Amino acid sequence: MSRPPLFTPFESRGVHFRNRLVVSPMCQYQSTEGLVNDWHYAHHARFALGGIGGALLEATAVMRDGRISPGCLGIWNDDQIAGLRRIAGLYHQQGVPLGVQLAHAGRKASSAVPWLGSGPLTTDSPSPAWPTLAPSALAHNVDWPTPAAASHDDIQQVIQAFAQGARRAVEAGLDFVEIHGAHGYLIHEFFSPLANLRTDAYGGDFANRARLALEVVRAVRAVVPSSMPVWYRASCVDDGEGGISLDDSVRLAALLAADGVDLVDCSAGGILGPVARSATVATAGHQVPYAARIRAEAEVATMAVGMITEAQHANQVIAEGAADLVALGRALLDDPSFAYHAALELQVPDAHDLLPQSHGFFLARRQARTKVKAT
Ligand SMILES: Cc1cc2nc3c(=O)[nH]c(=O)nc-3n(C[C@H](O)[C@H](O)[C@H](O)COP(=O)(O)O)c2cc1C
Repeated sequence: MSRPPLFTPFESRGVHFRNRLVVSPMCQYQSTEGLVNDWHYAHHARFALGGIGGALLEATAVMRDGRISPGCLGIWNDDQIAGLRRIAGLYHQQGVPLGVQLAHAGRKASSAVPWLGSGPLTTDSPSPAWPTLAPSALAHNVDWPTPAAASHDDIQQVIQAFAQGARRAVEAGLDFVEIHGAHGYLIHEFFSPLANLRTDAYGGDFANRARLALEVVRAVRAVVPSSMPVWYRASCVDDGEGGISLDDSVRLAALLAADGVDLVDCSAGGILGPVARSATVATAGHQVPYAARIRAEAEVATMAVGMITEAQHANQVIAEGAADLVALGRALLDDPSFAYHAALELQVPDAHDLLPQSHGFFLARRQARTKVKAT
């Protein structure tokens, strides 16, 4: 029987993924001053021990004011490197590459954790609000504060902050970086006509709206080794009329690839507030067509994400050539050993080798004994 495509290896530049399942970036809101702590270690240990092919750390702020919430991880100073290195070591022990999602939350920064509503912090919040930055002085939603429209100097500082974040990722021993260009955060805000009303070189036509994304990519590429993959998470379509279309994203993806992006992680939405979001009905694999079209037309590797919860479905995405990798979020929170269980379900002969020996050896022996008894 041939090996299921989901359990074939994948190479991104010099980095080897033993299978096609990746931990999607997931904010934990458990940090103080952007530092990794035992929570992050425990959270990632669950995935590192469960057979996954690769992993991404949550949206990690390249500037302190670019945090989504006060509890977000950060990579804006050198003190934050040691904690990131500890998580990299955990994954590396299992032969799993780890990347970090470099992020600036733009006008959606300074917000409360989801279980407190994700709304904007106020000056009375336990962690008080801080000023936010965006392409234009347009609030994210009603009742949200108006961000400052970024000056030319602000933009240059943001680009340098992404580069410095990437430099720290290298120092922390991480294997790849992903630039967060999705979900209504700063880089997406510049690309989307729904948030960018500028009339200078960073607003207006397609080329100007794409400028920040491309300048960030070039600045990051310039500081990381040539063997290190640079990925980009895109919101391939906006959730409002007049926003980014899939055609725009195909075009952007080709430009990103030409500037050294190795994979586009295909997500969607986030530029508008929760009202628009709740109007969208998401179904299984609803974003897979974005990954498929970008892969085919922009000729860049893609990662599919969003409501992929079944082994057969994930395998089908890879088998059909819709994407090179599949990222999982909530399915992994539910079952951190999803990859191992998927390998069993798809009858991967060496499924037990995905686990650490001290787990896999005993589970393989149990399976062999069960089979003998059954015959
Ligand atoms: C708890 C949680 C935190 C998330 N944090 C991030 C994040 O930091 N960066 C990001 O790009 N997406 C984030 N997402 C979105 C996921 O990466 C993923 O795209 C989304 O959950 C859809 O995949 P799923 O259906 O497999 O969960 C988060 C999702 C969850 C559930």
